[in-house]
Amino acid sequence: MSAVKVEFDPKNMPFRRLGPSGLRVPVLSLGGWLTLGGTVIGDPVKDIIKVAFDNGINMFDTAEAYAKGKSEEEMGRVIKELGLRRTDLIITTKLFWGLRGGPNDGGLSRKHIIEGTKECLERLGLDYVDVIFAHRPDASVPMEEVVRAFNWVIQKGWAFYWATSEWSAFEIEEAQHVATKLGLHAPIAEQCQHNMFHRERPEKEYRPLYKKYELGTTVFSALASGLLTGKYNNGIPEGSRFDMHSSFFKGTVDSLQKEEGLAKINKVKELTALAENELGCTVTHLALAWVAKNPNTSTVILGASRPEQVLDNLKALDVIPKLTPEIMDKIEEILQTKTAPTPTFGRPALDSYGRL
Ligand SMILES: NC(=O)c1ccc[n+]([C@@H]2O[C@H](COP(=O)([O-])OP(=O)(O)OC[C@H]3O[C@@H](n4cnc5c(N)ncnc54)[C@H](OP(=O)(O)O)[C@@H]3O)[C@@H](O)[C@H]2O)c1
Repeated sequence: MSAVKVEFDPKNMPFRRLGPSGLRVPVLSLGGWLTLGGTVIGDPVKDIIKVAFDNGINMFDTAEAYAKGKSEEEMGRVIKELGLRRTDLIITTKLFWGLRGGPNDGGLSRKHIIEGTKECLERLGLDYVDVIFAHRPDASVPMEEVVRAFNWVIQKGWAFYWATSEWSAFEIEEAQHVATKLGLHAPIAEQCQHNMFHRERPEKEYRPLYKKYELGTTVFSALASGLLTGKYNNGIPEGSRFDMHSSFFKGTVDSLQKEEGLAKINKVKELTALAENELGCTVTHLALAWVAKNPNTSTVILGASRPEQVLDNLKALDVIPKLTPEIMDKIEEILQTKTAPTPTFGRPALDSYGRL
């Protein structure tokens, strides 16, 4: 590791435990999907990571598949060039899609988990990551093989913890049971999509898991890829994510012309009015703060194509305490997407976050 040039100052960033582990993660972290190593390369990657680190964000998320490995390479390069101390950082990466498309280059076989981890570390130029995620479930591999392989990766010191991403509650349960039965490391967190328009899985399906396993979440797409900033209210701005990745987001963009999409845009407009008139903030800040307020959220992984977006999104921290029960009710009135409570059959109810 090269010489340390910058000391970490958490500033006013709150930190939370990641699930049942002792790892403390910043409430806002930063990820590299589509951006770092993808649409953003070279010095601008450094500018984005530096502005985040200078403002208390010391957790960075990537994946083997992001920009076909380029995201990990760029992140590793920048960490070295900026002279960040490894112990100050929380680096997370994810395995599943692989890079070469061969029969053993992806998925969650023991072979890919072990070889894939080694390749991630090579691209990052690091000896270890803090958390390694199974980027998706793999129904073609026995769960015992998956749990044993991640346990091995941890035993080797290549990762401190393992976690899942977009697994069903059933699959997470199975991993927990196998790990407990065999006395092996269980996943500590789930990297799931959670935003004002995508609530069912994190708020309902996973509800029992937060209580039972203290499951943590590293939430992604809290801005619904930018939809919740209001930037798509009047079409697709040039250079925006939906423009730059038009084929990937074709379905989403098409839906914005239809009833479902137009209803979402209307909700963004109503949320904008609420944010500006009652909270003195933007809808972007409100959308991020709303996810961060949830006690089951360990960290909200931001995405940013420019340093200014990181700085702007940090303002969400000031909005979290302003989300009173009255404001939360007003948000629910606009969204109309509240998930149904767990039936109690006359027994004491859980709180709205699924806790006792
Ligand atoms: N595990 C998984 O399967 C999975 C899936 C997706 C993401 N993730 C992780 O989560 C991270 C975040 O996800 P995401 O990128 O989808 O998050 P997001 O917050 O929903 O979208 C981020 C994008 O919104 C736009 N944006 C952000 N802040 C803005 C602001 N203040 N004003 C205007 N536009 C703004 C930018 O796009 P433009 O400027 O380009 O328009 C930015 O790249 C990823 O980097 C990745 O690490 C994981």
